[in-house]
Amino acid sequence: MHNSVLNDLKNLASKDLTNATAMPKELYSSNEILNLEEDLIFSKEWICVGRENEIPEVGDYFTFELGKQPLIVLRDKNKNIKVLSNICLHRMMKIVDGKGNKKNFTCPYHAWTYNLDGNLVKAKYMDKTECFEKKHLKLPELKTEIFLGWIYVTLNQNPESLSENLKSLETMVTPYKMENYINIISEEHEWSTNWKILTENFMEGYHLPVAHQGTIGPYFNVMDTEFDSKGSYDFFTYQTFTKNEDAIVGTAHPSNKSLTGKWRHTSILPTIFPSHMFSLAPDHLWYLSLQPNGTDKVKIKFGAAIAPEVLEAQDNPEVFLEETKRILYEVQNEDRFVVEGICKGVNSPLGSPGPLSWLERENHEFTQYIAKKLTN
Ligand code: FES
Ligand SMILES: [Fe+2]
Repeated sequence: MHNSVLNDLKNLASKDLTNATAMPKELYSSNEILNLEEDLIFSKEWICVGRENEIPEVGDYFTFELGKQPLIVLRDKNKNIKVLSNICLHRMMKIVDGKGNKKNFTCPYHAWTYNLDGNLVKAKYMDKTECFEKKHLKLPELKTEIFLGWIYVTLNQNPESLSENLKSLETMVTPYKMENYINIISEEHEWSTNWKILTENFMEGYHLPVAHQGTIGPYFNVMDTEFDSKGSYDFFTYQTFTKNEDAIVGTAHPSNKSLTGKWRHTSILPTIFPSHMFSLAPDHLWYLSLQPNGTDKVKIKFGAAIAPEVLEAQDNPEVFLEETKRILYEVQNEDRFVVEGICKGVNSPLGSPGPLSWLERENHEFTQYIAKKLTN
């Protein structure tokens, strides 16, 4: 079946935006397509696992599942980020859950113990085992890159350079100094939708005045949306929009000296393919990093962070944080409502993909990215 779907997808990707529709619904509902995505995208591309400043101190760690591979993301003795397989070298038990700070990781099954480099340092009652040599046992380490404070990993042994691919994006976002933004939320969720439906939802501003009318919708002037006009869209795409200079959120604090002119009230929303997206404003950011879990479930790492000068200026930071979180959760719920609704649509017999607006330009670029990965 998937050959004809892939032909339809290729055909759609070759059209310009004025003749583009949403992707064929089998792209969201078919297990064959999901298997292709897992093999050709999620096992090969760079995936964001979170922010570097979630683990600032030596021994800080959090866990993450990349596809079916449990990982430990940690800060090693040299203060570098290291990402290790979270599977014990004895009988393959998962070693650790959650987050925290440790000098060593001890497997809960028979207490084999690993240091922050992943070397096995302790294993009792193995002295009579001829094929056991402690010094040769080390947890596999994944390739890792840091991009402006984001931690990326890949299962690919020979990946392209992430920083090389994101160079032009880096030039634009560097003045925001987002790597210094202070984390206020870092959570994992699972919603009942296809991962691409949530990606596409994040990419377009068309829905903001409608689906978010109860929260952030009224602050956006959709006519102000600008796109990446020179991009190749192989690795990322983005849009920018401005806020009124007197808007209460989304503008630079007076003590922010690195952003100038219109950038003081401009937000950038990049999507770094396949599934890391963030909304970066001069005073805060929030982000999603997604992975499929079946055709109709998406695993979400969701986080938010605040520019340090904004947090410092609060008379009552607790109330400020509570209110900021409340709004973000409300926005999330508004998005959850639509993306779970669309998931019903793509699985329904009478659902069919309709034409896109010029405001959904990035959705078509995403279609082109997916087509390229699945049909090359
Ligand atoms: S499985 Fe980890 S110590 Fe046995
Ligand atoms: Fe939204």
